[in-house]
Amino acid sequence: MSSTALSRNGLGLQTLDTEKIRRDFPILEQTIHGKKLVYLDNGATSQKPRAVIEAIVHYYKHNNANVHRGVHTLSVRATEEHDEARERVRRFIQAADVSEIIFVRGATEAVNLVAETYGRANVGVGDEVLITAMEHHSNIVPWQMLCNEKGAHLRVVPINDAGELDLEAYETLLTPRTRIVAVTHASNALGTVNPLRKMIQMAHAKSIPVLVDGAQAVPHMPVDVQALDCDFYAFSGHKIYGPTGIGVLYGKMDLLDEMPPYQGGGDMIRSVSFEKTTYNVLPYKFEAGTPDIAGAIGLGVALEYLMGLGMDRVAAHDQELLAYATEKVGGLEGVRLIGTAKHRAGVLSFLVGDIHPHDLGTILDREGIAIRTGHHCAQPVMERYGVPATARASFAVYNTREEVDALVNGIEKAREVMG
Ligand SMILES: Cc1ncc(COP(=O)(O)O)c(C=O)c1O
Repeated sequence: MSSTALSRNGLGLQTLDTEKIRRDFPILEQTIHGKKLVYLDNGATSQKPRAVIEAIVHYYKHNNANVHRGVHTLSVRATEEHDEARERVRRFIQAADVSEIIFVRGATEAVNLVAETYGRANVGVGDEVLITAMEHHSNIVPWQMLCNEKGAHLRVVPINDAGELDLEAYETLLTPRTRIVAVTHASNALGTVNPLRKMIQMAHAKSIPVLVDGAQAVPHMPVDVQALDCDFYAFSGHKIYGPTGIGVLYGKMDLLDEMPPYQGGGDMIRSVSFEKTTYNVLPYKFEAGTPDIAGAIGLGVALEYLMGLGMDRVAAHDQELLAYATEKVGGLEGVRLIGTAKHRAGVLSFLVGDIHPHDLGTILDREGIAIRTGHHCAQPVMERYGVPATARASFAVYNTREEVDALVNGIEKAREVMG
C-alpha cells in the first residue's frame, strides 16, 4: 500500500499516512479466501486500533472494579479511567461540560432515551415530531412509537433525487405543533451531509429543539456541538474505532436537567425510600446500573487516537477517498450511484446493472473485499429510490486508493461472472 503521507487533496488539505495507520489495526493483517482483506464496511462497524484493544485488556488485567462505589484502590482507578473517558468524549465533540455527556449503549439507545424522556414529557395529542426521509430506522421507530403512544404525528422532510433535504419543505414542516426535530448529520445509506447549522437555526427560531443522529458523521469530520448549537447529539462507539456496546448522548445541560430519568436503578439516585426517590446529578441521573466501564475506556482511547491524527486530516482523507471512489466506481458501465448530494461523507451506495447487491457482495467477499449489501436499516430510503437494496462501500482512516481499485476490479469480475 502506498502512503498518502503529506499528500494534499483537492481541498489543499494534508491527509493521512495510511501506511502507518494500517499498522495500528491488527485485523487488517489477515487474508480472506487467500486475498488481502479490503475492509469497506466501516459504516456498519469500524475496526479497532491496537491502542483500544490494549486499553480494554489493560483495564481488565489491572484495574477492574465497579465505579463510584468503592474506596479501595481498584475502584478509585476504575472510576478515574471512566471519568477520563467522559472528558475525552467532551473534548472530542467540544461540549461545554462533562455533565452533558451520557454514556449509553449506542446511537439507538441515545435516541430512545430522548424519545422516552424528553419526548414523553413534551409530546402530546396532535403534536408533531419532525424527522427526515433519510433517517436510519433507529431515528424513525422510537419517534413512531412515541407518536403512537401519544396520539401525535410523525412528519417527514422529503429528499430530492440527489439525496438532499428539501429545505423549503422543512421550513413549512416546522409548525407551532412541532415539538422536536430529529435529523441525521450524515446519511448511512446515501452519504449526504445535512446543513445542520442552518436547520438548527431555523428550528430554534421557532423554539423547537433538535436532536442530531451523528452515528455516521463523527468518524469522518470534526464535530463541535456548541458551534452547531444542537440540543442533543447521538453516536455509537463501535463506528468510531471504539468497542461495541458503548455510545454517547450529548444533551444541553438545561434540557437534561428538566428531563425525567430514563431507567431506574443504582447510581441514578440520590436517595431512595419506599415513599420517594430523589435523583442523582447529571450525567448519572441517566446512567442507571453498572456502566460499560471497559467500553467507555475503549471509546475514550479511540477518540484520543483520532484526535492524535487530527480530525481535519481525517475529514480530508475521507473526502479524497470518496471523490476517488465516486469517480472510479461511478464511472463503471452500468453502475448507478444512489446518493449524489453535493456534500457527502464516508459512504458510496450503488447498484451494478441487474446484479443483486447480495450476489455482488458474495462475489466481492471471494476477493477478500467486505462491503455491505441490503437496505442499510433505511427502508424508506430504498423505497424513495425504488430499489430493494444497494451495495455500500464505506470508508475509514485506514482505507486507501488501492483498495478502491481492488473494489473496482471486483465489480468488473462480478459483471463477468453474472453475465
Ligand atoms: C445513521 C445511523 N444512525 C444510527 C445507527 C444505529 O447505530 P447503533 O446500531 O450502533 O445503535 C446507525 C447504524 O448503522 C446509523 O448508520
